Amino acid sequence: MHIIHTVEEFRAVRARLPSLAFVPTMGNLHEGHIALATQAQASSRHVAASIFVNRLQFGPNEDFDRYPRTLADDAGKLEAAGVEFLFAPDERVMYPQPQTYHVEPADAHVSILEGEFRSGHFRGVATVVMKLLNIVQPTHALFGKKDYQQLMVLRNMVREFAMPIEVVPGETVRASDGLALSSRNGYLTASERLEAPRLYDRLQWIRQAVLSGRTDYSALEDEAIRTLREHGWQPEYVRVCRQTDLQRARPGEADPLVVLAAARLGSTRLIDNLEI
Ligand code: PAF
Repeated sequence: MHIIHTVEEFRAVRARLPSLAFVPTMGNLHEGHIALATQAQASSRHVAASIFVNRLQFGPNEDFDRYPRTLADDAGKLEAAGVEFLFAPDERVMYPQPQTYHVEPADAHVSILEGEFRSGHFRGVATVVMKLLNIVQPTHALFGKKDYQQLMVLRNMVREFAMPIEVVPGETVRASDGLALSSRNGYLTASERLEAPRLYDRLQWIRQAVLSGRTDYSALEDEAIRTLREHGWQPEYVRVCRQTDLQRARPGEADPLVVLAAARLGSTRLIDNLEI
């Protein structure tokens, strides 16, 4: 695997490739990222990943400084998964001067769910992903469904800016007890880790209830929130939404649905979702 640190070097490599599938990451890789890297090989013979911990998408009280930087370990995993190129810029390469131009996603897409609790997060994500896509110029870009709202925002960004890139979603990878793999799971204590699968359990419960015909979505959401609170969680939202634009589901509509949740367990914030 070639590890590339500069824009110029990446562009020179890219110019020789007929197609390129790209997996952007912030490193600290787990099986979910590796599954995306493996899946990428079905889109193109050439696969690139990137590792860059993007300051712009972290709020002032979030974990930018303590976010694990594990480049050597991550590079080994990507190489083993068949990734050919790793773009690993540092701050001076990505932000040689402070970023003063930003991608502003649609308010309707980012004032809800994660956006209610992480103001400016998706603006930071969209800005860095636009920049990464301009540097890497992939034909395919893969994003995991674990960050469902991020996938929706980036899919719309690529479409609305007519970028010649196919956005390919990747399924969420779960531990055997159902917990969605996430870099943040490493912050959980041993007892929190035992409790953590309850979030997915409640999503499955809502999914089953909706599939069996219930349309009282708010009651289902409230019930899941109550159960989580009883077990020591601080839920931020549990919401049944339309898959396409993540607006609240309304009884009687035929749109495909997804249930999304975010909750804190101790000092760790977990998110998860399940398509219905
Ligand atoms: O999902 C992530 O890891 C990040 O949000 C991304 C897409 C790499 C942008 O920094």
